[in-house]
Parts: sequence; C-alpha cells; structure tokens
Amino acid sequence: MCGIIGYIGKKNALSAVIEGLSKLEYRGYDSAGVAYQYNSNFKICKEKGRVIDLKKSLTDSHSNLAIGHTRWATHGEPSQKNAHPHCSFHQRFILVHNGIIENYQKLKFEYLNTYSFISETDTEIIADLIEYFSNTLQVEDAIRKTMSVIEGSYACLILDTLHQDRMYFIKDKSPLLLGKDEEGISFASDITGLLGYATEYMPLDDKTFGVVIQDKIELYDMIGISKEQIFKEISIQEEEINKKTFDHFMLKEIYEQPMMIRNLIRKYFKGEEVILSKKLLHLLRQCDKVNFVACGSSMYASYFAKYYFEKLCGIPCEVFCASELVYSTPLISKRPFFIFFSQSGETADLIAVMKKIKRQNYPVLTITNTMESSMVRLSDYALDICAGKEIAVASTKAYTAMVVTSAILARAVSGNKTNLKNNLKAVSLAMEKVLENKEVCKGIAREIVDAQDLFYIGRGIDYWTSLEASLKLKEIAYIHTEAFSSGELKHGPIALITKNTPVIAIITQEGTNRITRSNLEETASRGAHTYVISSKGLSLPKDDIIIPNVAHYLSALVSTVVVQLIAYYAAVFKQNDIDKPKNLAKSVTVE
Ligand code: AGP
Repeated sequence: MCGIIGYIGKKNALSAVIEGLSKLEYRGYDSAGVAYQYNSNFKICKEKGRVIDLKKSLTDSHSNLAIGHTRWATHGEPSQKNAHPHCSFHQRFILVHNGIIENYQKLKFEYLNTYSFISETDTEIIADLIEYFSNTLQVEDAIRKTMSVIEGSYACLILDTLHQDRMYFIKDKSPLLLGKDEEGISFASDITGLLGYATEYMPLDDKTFGVVIQDKIELYDMIGISKEQIFKEISIQEEEINKKTFDHFMLKEIYEQPMMIRNLIRKYFKGEEVILSKKLLHLLRQCDKVNFVACGSSMYASYFAKYYFEKLCGIPCEVFCASELVYSTPLISKRPFFIFFSQSGETADLIAVMKKIKRQNYPVLTITNTMESSMVRLSDYALDICAGKEIAVASTKAYTAMVVTSAILARAVSGNKTNLKNNLKAVSLAMEKVLENKEVCKGIAREIVDAQDLFYIGRGIDYWTSLEASLKLKEIAYIHTEAFSSGELKHGPIALITKNTPVIAIITQEGTNRITRSNLEETASRGAHTYVISSKGLSLPKDDIIIPNVAHYLSALVSTVVVQLIAYYAAVFKQNDIDKPKNLAKSVTVE
C-alpha cells in the first residue's frame, strides 16, 4: 500500500516523480503529494485524489531533487492534511513513508509531548522524531536512533532543509528499490517506478539506512557498517506497462492469458520434460506434507495446487490463509514443505508468516510474478509465473498463471508423464475461443449488473473457480456475491434466494454435473434467475455459456476467463474505475 518515488540528478526530478507515481498509483490512490527543491528551498504540494489532480496543482515544472507519494489510507481519512509528504514540527525534515508505525501513539507520549501534530497519520512522528533526536545527535545518528525506536514497517525518503543536496532513505519490511543511470539516482516502491530514470536497480534489504549526496550513494546497516552495493540490469520494458489499444489494463491482462500459457510452456518445458532445480524436486519428493500459504486470489489458486499435488504426487497438502496462519500455531508435520503464492511478492501477511517459518528452518518456495520481490529474497527457492507485469488491481492473468505453474511443478515432482504440455496448449486455444465470444459474457453482465446479491455455485474444481468469480465481481463491480459449494446450499444459504436472485452454476466436471444441476434447479424453484457455464461435453442446449472441452483438471482455466469477463463488463456498465477499484490496492504491504 502506498507508493513512494524519489529522484536526484540531472534529469527533471519533478517529471521523474510524477511519472513514477502514475506507475505506482495501483498501490494506493486516495491522495498524492511531492516535495521538491526549488530556488534553495523545499516546496510541498499535495492533493486529495489522484496523481493527475496533483499534477494540475503543481506550480513549478522543474527541479533536480524531489520525493513523491501516492497513498492508501491506513491512519487518518484520505485528505490533503493526511497526504504525504509530512513535515517535522519545526519544519526541518520532510518525508514520505510507505508502511505502518505500530507504536506511534506510545512514541508521541514518550518523546514528543511538547509537539503538536497537523495530521492524523502515524507517519508524521517519524519526521518529528528525527528532528527531536537531531537536537543532540548528527542527522545520520538521529535517523538511526529513530529507526531503533519505531516498530512496524517503513520505507521512507527524507529531506533535510539544512542540507538540500541530499536525500536520506530508510527501509524495514516495506519494499524500496534504488535505481541509477548515468544521469541520476532514483528510488521507487517497485521496479516500474524506476523505468525511464534508471537502467540498473538494487532492492534494499531490511534495516537499511543510506544517503544520496548528489551522485554518490552511501549504504549502511543499522549500526553504521557500510554495505556492498550490487546493482542488476533492469530488464522490464516500458511497453509492458502500456495499455495499448485496450480500454483498461484488466481487459488487456485477460487477453494476455493464452500467451501467458505459451510463455510458461517455453520457460519450463524442454521437449516433454519439465526442467526445474533438482534439489527443489528432491526436497518436495521427500516431504510428508506441502503447506500452501497465500491470500485472496492467490489463495484460491493454491486450492488447485493442492489438488494437483495430491492427485499427481500423492503428497497430503493443506491451504492456509496467511493472515490467519500468522497468528495461529497449527500442528506441523515432521518433514513439511511450504509453498507461498503471491503475485506481488510483497504481501505483508505472507512475509510475516514466511519469517516465522524460516525461523524454524523449514524449506520455503515462493511462486510469484515478481522475481525481484522481498518474498523471493527471503525464500530458499522461487518460481516465476511469467505472467508479465499485472497492473489492474483485480488479478486475472497472475491468478491463472499460478494455477498453470502449480500444475507444471506437480508434474515435475511426480515424474509422471501426463500430457500436460499438449493439454496446456489446448487450454490456450480454448481461452482464445472464449475471448472471441466475449459478447455472450457481456450479455450476462448486462442482466446481472443491478443485482443486490448474486451467487456462484459449483463443486470441487468448479467451487474453487466460483470463489475467484465471486471475488472478481465484488472487487470491481461492487456487487455482493458469494460462492457456495452447490451441496452446501441446502444447509443454509438457500434461505437467501429471493425472486430473481442470479445464481450462476459452473459445470466442468463430469462427476458433479448432474448433482450441481439439481442444486441449481432447487434455487430456480425458489425464484432464482439461474445461469449455467458448462464444458461442451457436459452441456445442455439451454446452457448460457458453453466452453470448449479441455483436460478436466485444467478446465477451470477456461471457465475462469468467462467469469473474469462477466465481472469486467458488469463494472463497465456501472462505469466503475476498473483498474483502480475503490478501497483496494494492488500490493497489500500492511498486515
Ligand atoms: C485479487 O484480485 C486481489 N486483488 C487480491 O485478492 C490479491 O490476490 C491478494 O491481495 C494477494 O496478493 P498477492 O498475490 O500479491 O500476494
């Protein structure tokens, strides 16, 4: 949550920050602000709303040093007053912050009882503490002292009005990348924010402190020992984060799914063999249980991973919701293996669990779309889901890429020679067919768009797809939607069915076809307006959407495209902000 950007160098720092913030806006978009050097002074400009609103209110157009922030409110409502940058009480320090300071109330009381505060944020006290400690300490020591008393997560860029040629930075638990090219040095919460202003980057470690003075970078740990600077080339291209001719990133990303499958085949298959680290496969073959840990859509993807591992490898598995696991102590088997699924690789709930698991020395694999993320750095192993940058807040191609990657991994662990490669190729073609017939999905979206409540039902694989379908409709179309295992309806939820409640059944599995249809019929008898999405081989002429047949264990990949399109068009009809839905953020970096 929240994106931060900084630039110091020969290029225009204000353009760098505004462009960077627009790319990071997916991380939070309720207010935005910048601080920049202008005529031997620092100026601050901040606005409630989007980066575009901020850009309109900027009175200057050039600077060589600037920091910026786009906010997802945690402490204090979205407002100009609570927007970053924040200033210290005596106006000496200015900073932007991504993260949460959990003990900020206690610190106010302990150190800052003579200060008054302008905002309701936890962030303001960081600037105040640095100022307070710098009354008796050098700035560097005052910043380190502040790091030692604040608890929580932070990535901050800090300006000192008494030393205007430099930018300080601190980082713990929230992501921060340092970038550089021949003309300047930049900072961003993720790699896209650096594009155009850096050719190389370096992800910063936790508890890092540093300063950039003109073109010189100094990097230290908490006790002031200098750290090595290892930069990597930036390989992502600007055009990957371009909407092209699509109206929304979400639609573009839905359309990229067939290509994503072909990329994954190219990445992991050599002929008919899956090529993966031998050590990883050995550890997985030896373990007595695989524990999957994830949140949201990524958690729904891991239900498929559990299914593939149990069916193909005969290893018992369990799926854990990260935000629950972090505060519980389940019984752990003797030789467990932990697999984390995360599109961003920065989800705070997951990082908290991962640290706990690593302390116990259990092996950890991260399956992610962000190979330069914090989770990858913390893990023993990492697999790339090769989906390409996903910009829309609602996950589409990253979700299906996780399902595909887990099928490939399970196939490699099992050593089994299923025809996965050809079956996946068939899935990519089937997805293309669904996309060609998108008007049918649009038709259903039009019919359900005004529903108060809507239910998706299915069993097994189709139930897991229903969970994802329901999340998509909630996220972007703001329709109250629940997913039920169709068998569970009669145990309670059927009481919610009233006249014309839409109930959409997903039917792609032969074994549950008849029974799910009966359960759907039971809702129709109580007034529901029912719809069926079915695989061709199981379809009836009156079914609403018939998808091509593919291997039964991969059918969810095709039905998912249908439910993504239904959610997308429902949101279009409502004229919602599809790529940046209200109250959400793409990278959930607070617990
Ligand atoms: C999906 O559409 C969501 N925006 C959300 O549920 C997401 O999957 C979840 O926050 C997990 O994120 P991650 O994959 O980056 O860890």
